[in-house]
Amino acid sequence: MSLIEIRDLTKVYQMGEVEVHALNGVSLDIDQGEWVAIMGPSGSGKSTMMHIIGCLDIPTSGSYILDGVDVSQMVESQLAAVRNHKIGFVFQAYNLLARTSAIKQVMLPMQYSRDGSRVPRAERRERAEEALEVVGMADRINHRPSELSGGERQRVAIARALVTNPSILMADEPTGNLDSKSGIEVMEVFHRLHEGRGITVVMVTHDEAISADAERVIRLFDGRIERVDRNGLRSEVESQKSKVGIPAQLMSDVGVVTPDKGSERC
Ligand SMILES: Nc1ncnc2c1ncn2[C@@H]1O[C@H](COP(=O)(O)OP(=O)(O)OP(=O)(O)O)[C@@H](O)[C@H]1O
Ligand SMILES: [Mg+2]
Repeated sequence: MSLIEIRDLTKVYQMGEVEVHALNGVSLDIDQGEWVAIMGPSGSGKSTMMHIIGCLDIPTSGSYILDGVDVSQMVESQLAAVRNHKIGFVFQAYNLLARTSAIKQVMLPMQYSRDGSRVPRAERRERAEEALEVVGMADRINHRPSELSGGERQRVAIARALVTNPSILMADEPTGNLDSKSGIEVMEVFHRLHEGRGITVVMVTHDEAISADAERVIRLFDGRIERVDRNGLRSEVESQKSKVGIPAQLMSDVGVVTPDKGSERC
């Protein structure tokens, strides 16, 4: 059984009289621990597919079995529970709170555990510090986003996604706003998480060089899978280089608080 099993997925947006067919029958399996890149021209359905895989939205038709559970017709509260438990998100624009320090941003998803009880503050802080250490940001924990570079902001965002111990890390153009050096640093963090901990990575990118890091590249066109490329395995030397373990404390089970939609982001 694959971690993600998608069959004949469609997504139709109703825009007044007009139907927009964003996905037109997509079938795909993604295994636990795989790294998959999703590519395709603008409007081909990449973000729509990410939103459905990430349980931010449901399909119009078709089935989506995530870790053995049919999530394709869940209501929002059920989807939120699945997201909180299994999925971490990294966005192109970081989506950090403007006036909040790195450490507080990363503590935020642990505000409440899934059963509503609070994780003690000292434990939240400790785990947030560890997550920031994993992304190489241990010496910047009191910085606000305006006091960080783009690459550093994105690494804080990855720490925030990571602190709840998701099995899937979903990233929509995570290096899209970064210069090439910062982009490489951010990709190194993804490699550490993927190879060190076996986290499943699903990443949308327009960049062929970035997609070369994935094991498989799914190419969408007009809401359909046009082609699937399987990349060669990375060399042993390269994969050894980025083999770094993740602290055990990050493995416990907490909920995610997504930043308040009305809050100022940066
Ligand atoms: N909420 C929505 N309501 C109506 N139409 C939408 C909505 N979201 C996306 N679409 C349409 O669905 C299609 C696929 O959009 P999607 O955002 O998935 O594309 P994309 O591949 O991510 O593009 P890009 O590379 O520009 O981000 C597009 O034609 C888009 O206009
Ligand atoms: Mg998009």
